[in-house]
Amino acid sequence: MYRRYFSDYAVFATNNSWQDVRGALSKVYVVQTSDVIVQRCLLMATDPGDLVLDPTCGSGTTAHVAEQWGRRWITIDTSRVALALARARIMGAKFPWYLLADSPEGQKKQAEVTRSAPSMQPTHGDIRHGFVYERLPHIMLGDIARNTEIDVIWEETQPAVEGACAALNAALVGHKAPFKVETGGRTGKMVDFTASGTVTLPSGEEAPANGFMEWEIPRKAPDGWPAAAKAALETFWKARINRQKEIDASIAARAEFENLYDKPYEDKKRIRVAGPFTVESLSPHSISPVDEHGELIDQINAAEGLHLPGEREAENYRKAIMENLAKAGVHQQDKKDAIRFDTLAPWPGEWIGAEGRYREGEGEDAVERRAGIFIGPEYGTVSRADLVACAKEAGDFGMDIVIACAFNFEAHAQEFHRLGRVPILHARMNADLHMAGDLKAGGGNLFVVFGEPDIELRQEGDRYRVELKGVDIFRPATGTVETSEPDDIACWFIDTDYSGESFFVRQAYFPGAEVPYKALRSTLKADIDEEAWDSLKRTVSRPFARPKSGRIAVKVINHLGDEVMKVLSI
Ligand SMILES: C[S@@+](CC[C@H](N)C(=O)[O-])C[C@H]1O[C@@H](n2cnc3c(N)ncnc32)[C@H](O)[C@@H]1O
Repeated sequence: MYRRYFSDYAVFATNNSWQDVRGALSKVYVVQTSDVIVQRCLLMATDPGDLVLDPTCGSGTTAHVAEQWGRRWITIDTSRVALALARARIMGAKFPWYLLADSPEGQKKQAEVTRSAPSMQPTHGDIRHGFVYERLPHIMLGDIARNTEIDVIWEETQPAVEGACAALNAALVGHKAPFKVETGGRTGKMVDFTASGTVTLPSGEEAPANGFMEWEIPRKAPDGWPAAAKAALETFWKARINRQKEIDASIAARAEFENLYDKPYEDKKRIRVAGPFTVESLSPHSISPVDEHGELIDQINAAEGLHLPGEREAENYRKAIMENLAKAGVHQQDKKDAIRFDTLAPWPGEWIGAEGRYREGEGEDAVERRAGIFIGPEYGTVSRADLVACAKEAGDFGMDIVIACAFNFEAHAQEFHRLGRVPILHARMNADLHMAGDLKAGGGNLFVVFGEPDIELRQEGDRYRVELKGVDIFRPATGTVETSEPDDIACWFIDTDYSGESFFVRQAYFPGAEVPYKALRSTLKADIDEEAWDSLKRTVSRPFARPKSGRIAVKVINHLGDEVMKVLSI
């Protein structure tokens, strides 16, 4: 009966059943969400310039899609692996350049789409005005009936159509054979141009008396037509299609319309990369348990002579941590530097809660070493004073090393690495251990030591620079501390005026971060200023002024996403 082409109805209203969102997905994260789903939610619920929050970042799909669509974003995850992936993904991403409504190019495009005069409003590049979108007309009969521009277009385009029609008829004069004319898939009128004689056209040319009317002209030339007729046919259809296009465009431009919010116009000559963003981690914090009246539970119970609440929980927590530690051991960036305990047993110290024995060296030469294990609080931070006390106790017991396991170390505790002959390793506990009781013991990198950054502060007149020389890594095989190459560092940031509370990234460098930049370089398909490129990989900072707060902080992050911060007074 008729054919319906996909392009006749290429746009559909979205309903509740989203069948089209799965699509191909090359995943960087095992539970990565499809971009299309996030994009649809984001386009439905927000406008350009809005702020989008995704508290379960994963590989950063929300941030990535928000970045593409000009939304601001904040995203959170408890896993540093997720954050490291998200960071790399956003840093290496390339986005299309959409025309801003509030820009001279946008105003021009808008005028073109609406067939009106460009706006004379001054522009400010404000993204909140949105983009210039493709639009879909809602055409009603009245839109056509009331459109007076159609008459104007007709007058302008009709002479070319009629001229081409006449030229075609003229080219067919004297041709005897009847021609089959295909119209709309059916065999149409049989025309015998020789039977009816000729008429003289206003141009003086001869044409068949029963020549084609405009609407009888076939789309394709039947076999046997002379070359001149074929050329005339082509000219006719060009003029005819042009007339229709102009009329359709005029109708579309004056009818009601819908913006297609997922189809902004692009400037294909330009591309975007992500705007500036930072990766922050929470300051160490502690939680005091309070009852429904806001009173500290510990104090109430103590006053009433009861056992401290949570005593049993605390014991369970320590037990679960010990079990995991015995199975998982302590990891460092390099697998071969992992410490595995031959035995791990409780120890009745005031600070040291367990003694772990491991071997230093290989085979017969191996020496047994004794590590004093300190387990930090489940909620709360380990201070430098705690570590000093641990190290003293370990020294008194003749232990060789302290392994302090904690979720959070205070900045000053992080800087404390040795007391006399006793080295102190800071083993950061994975957040999964918060549910240690339910965790199947033994998995993964639960206790990770991230070496101490070796930092030098230099004064140059009234300016300062920081040099990052590497990270000090403890080698359990030899019992020594060695400095690794700066390449082992994914990135390092400086807050050149550290408030003591929140770390503000004022300088950022990526010495070992080949990967995202390589990706960026190849996605951009462009060469990037070598010097600017190299400056990102620096291990010596740009100079900075003396901090008003009297302190700077340096944060160093390795390829596993582990980070350590060092505070220096100036
Ligand atoms: C299903 S994934 C999110 C996937 C993400 N939409 C993407 O496209 O990659 C859930 C994420 O939430 C994180 N997560 C789990 N519990 C969390 C919590 N309490 N706070 C923040 N993030 C959490 C997990 O680490 C995991 O990365």
